Amino acid sequence: MGSKIQVIEVGPRDGLQNENQILNAKVRSTLVRKLTQAGIKRIEVGAFVSPKWVPQMEDSLKVAKNSVKLKDKFPQQSYSALVPNLRGLDDFLKTDLDEVSLFTACTESFSKRNINCSIEESFERFKPVIKECKSKKIKVRGYLSTVFGCPFEGKVSVSRVVKYTHSLLELGVHEVSLGDTIGVATPLQVKKVMSALIKSGVQPSKLAGHYHNTRGTALSNVIASLDFGIKKFDSCVGGLGGCPYAPGAAGNLATEDLVYTLEQMGFKTGIDLKQLIEIARWLQTQVGHPIASHVAMSGGWNR
Ligand code: HMG
Ligand code: MG
Repeated sequence: MGSKIQVIEVGPRDGLQNENQILNAKVRSTLVRKLTQAGIKRIEVGAFVSPKWVPQMEDSLKVAKNSVKLKDKFPQQSYSALVPNLRGLDDFLKTDLDEVSLFTACTESFSKRNINCSIEESFERFKPVIKECKSKKIKVRGYLSTVFGCPFEGKVSVSRVVKYTHSLLELGVHEVSLGDTIGVATPLQVKKVMSALIKSGVQPSKLAGHYHNTRGTALSNVIASLDFGIKKFDSCVGGLGGCPYAPGAAGNLATEDLVYTLEQMGFKTGIDLKQLIEIARWLQTQVGHPIASHVAMSGGWNR
């Protein structure tokens, strides 16, 4: 207890990519500023994907450029964005963002629907992206989706997860974020996946948990992950999120629920919960519907 946990805020990207209301670059930049001021050190600010595929992420370039300006005041910040291919990297390189987030999946059907290629093809697309990032000393994280279940193929074998986690690490990503894309995982399944990965030689420091909260199990999945030494978790302020190409996916674990629970357990996140709650409530007015966060809706951070 008392050790540090890294929270990776994916609200400006995962949180907003599935919203009916498209938020403009100014509001999204304000969101990044508020999250930065609340003490979140790693923030995914947008996605350099096709605006035809995800119109909500259009103008990520503007959001990225505004975000990096905050580094004058917050030099420890790390800002990232999704990049699916070299075309996306072109946009990324027009910014001074710190980290590229590549993304692929454990299942062919989801890969095809989400990025219009097979899993193997996605790895082929990543190779030149990683090469370029290495030459420019840009950090690269890798997302692996449908780790715990696929909206099209159902159950996913642990051996696939182990295989593709190793493939991503061999390619050169510094960590793999394990996506429960549609929020079906339970703690027992998390234990099975984590033990298999660690048994296969993956260091816990190379893994992050990305748990969507469709069935209310995300927080218990975090707690199950802690037992395996996992210390990095993705979350979205206000519990927003979902993937437009994963039918049935609901929001991510709310950052304020994560921070509240971790801090009460004696872990340190370095994040100001009070500010986080204010951001969640502000965000609700921007997206125009109630948010799915227990702590923010509980009437106060200390009640
Ligand atoms: P495609 O249509 O197969 O691409 O899309 P293409 O290479 O055939 O090119 C077609 C057109 O798209 C061309 O333009 C390209 O220039 C353009 P045209 O000549 O017709 O004018 N294009 C691009 N434009 C902007 N940015 C780019 C880009 N690439 C090509 N990067 C593509 C392939 C990957 C682009 C598309 O499928 C796409 O954008 N998919 C993104 C889907 C997405 O963002 N999903 C949500 C994020 S993943 C997620 O939420 C899961 C996660 O949270 C973890 C979890 O929960 O499991 C990470
Ligand atoms: Mg996600």
